[in-house]
Amino acid sequence: MLSSMQSIESLYCDHIYQLQSRYDRLLDEQGYDGLLIHAGSTQSYYLDDNHRPFKTNPHLLAWAPLTHHPECCLLIRPGYAPRLFYYNPTDFWYKPAGAPDGFWTKYFDIEIMDKPDQVSRGLEGNKNIAFFGERADLAEKWGLTDINPKPLLSALHWYRACKTDYEVECLRRANDIAAKGHLLAERTFRNGASEFEIQMAYLSATRQRESELPYGNIVALNENASVLHYQYYQCLKPDLCHSFLIDAGAAYNGYASDVTRTYCQDIEMLGKDDSGARNLDLHESVFSALIDALDSAQQRLIGSIKPGQSFIKLHQQMCLDIGAILQQHKLVNASAEAQLHQGILRAFFPHGLGHLLGLQVHDVGGLQADANGTPALAPDDYPFLRLTRTLETGMVFTIEPGIYLIDSLLAELKAGSAASAVNWSMVDSLRPFGGIRIEDNIHLTASGCENLTRNSLAALGKV
Ligand code: GLY
Ligand code: MN
Ligand code: MN
Repeated sequence: MLSSMQSIESLYCDHIYQLQSRYDRLLDEQGYDGLLIHAGSTQSYYLDDNHRPFKTNPHLLAWAPLTHHPECCLLIRPGYAPRLFYYNPTDFWYKPAGAPDGFWTKYFDIEIMDKPDQVSRGLEGNKNIAFFGERADLAEKWGLTDINPKPLLSALHWYRACKTDYEVECLRRANDIAAKGHLLAERTFRNGASEFEIQMAYLSATRQRESELPYGNIVALNENASVLHYQYYQCLKPDLCHSFLIDAGAAYNGYASDVTRTYCQDIEMLGKDDSGARNLDLHESVFSALIDALDSAQQRLIGSIKPGQSFIKLHQQMCLDIGAILQQHKLVNASAEAQLHQGILRAFFPHGLGHLLGLQVHDVGGLQADANGTPALAPDDYPFLRLTRTLETGMVFTIEPGIYLIDSLLAELKAGSAASAVNWSMVDSLRPFGGIRIEDNIHLTASGCENLTRNSLAALGKV
């Protein structure tokens, strides 16, 4: 453990050096003397004195793992060490942050504050300071008028797509933690648990509370897997649990993992005495074969990815691969090209192939054409694609194809001109299984992909 902490420390040293030179150059180019980044404030619910979960401004997290630190501020000025105004109030209602601690502290000039407004003293004599954060009111009070300037944000978002070695190591560790949760979640599903019980198992294995996770876990049994962002955890388990989709990540030093797996209950577990189970039995093997086919297609695609490729083209390739699977497994009687052309594929795979991953689960900068912020929006045919960039060494992104049985999209398909190409009896028989998504986190290197997710799962013995 000690040696791994030492190694992350040396990676962090290089990370800070790279950040400092990137910020110095951009501030200089854009005519700023400095930038003040505000962590954010705790916020209460409407007419209430309870707080929403706090999430630190990711621009501050890029510098230091200040994940539970409202009101902290970082002043960056070219040529100076970053100056951290560290909020540590005296408080007997809530536990304050405590003294700054950890491998990161020695890179900052730290001033401890017990009142948030003490930042203003540290700004005296500084001009041309840009401000990043939600609290425009505080910025104005402190005399800062250039609030969240778009050119500076766009440039930083653009460069954030390529991770430093420290960031990749944080993302590896976020995958290691998620892998523990996924293993226990699968076992809990196979033991016949409810969505709620599976979620509890995941949290206990990762040792992360819900508000610390990068996003709300999707824990969906049966047809609930057809809801792309299904948000409930049913305490009652269905009579038959035949399929399970889990989309769940974890956080490490503010960096996110984002992992999805889909499972089918073993036929023996379905309870052969039950007539409902016998009917489902017939289709369980088709659903299971679909999971295997999608898993293979996903791994094949990942194996082909190289720097310089367009993510839009990869999405198109995966659409064709999914079309071939639908045809091969007799859900659709049309070639993949025809399915794409007739809009059939959109009903079965309505979302994008993936997105950038980092301090935010849908990391910023995926829809930019350049560092100036020129938009590179998703093509009309794939409106939900969140990444349109050419892939570069150092990028971390997800590859997450899916095949779903979504009632509303299937109803549209059935009412349209392509309906006759669909084998509706097969499709209807699979609706109780909901859908499939397989999602891995990929770090692109000069020679190809490092699959962070599969490496973490393999380290726990899961292939
Ligand atoms: N967990 C959200 C996503 O996969 O994009
Ligand atoms: Mn994702
Ligand atoms: Mn996900």
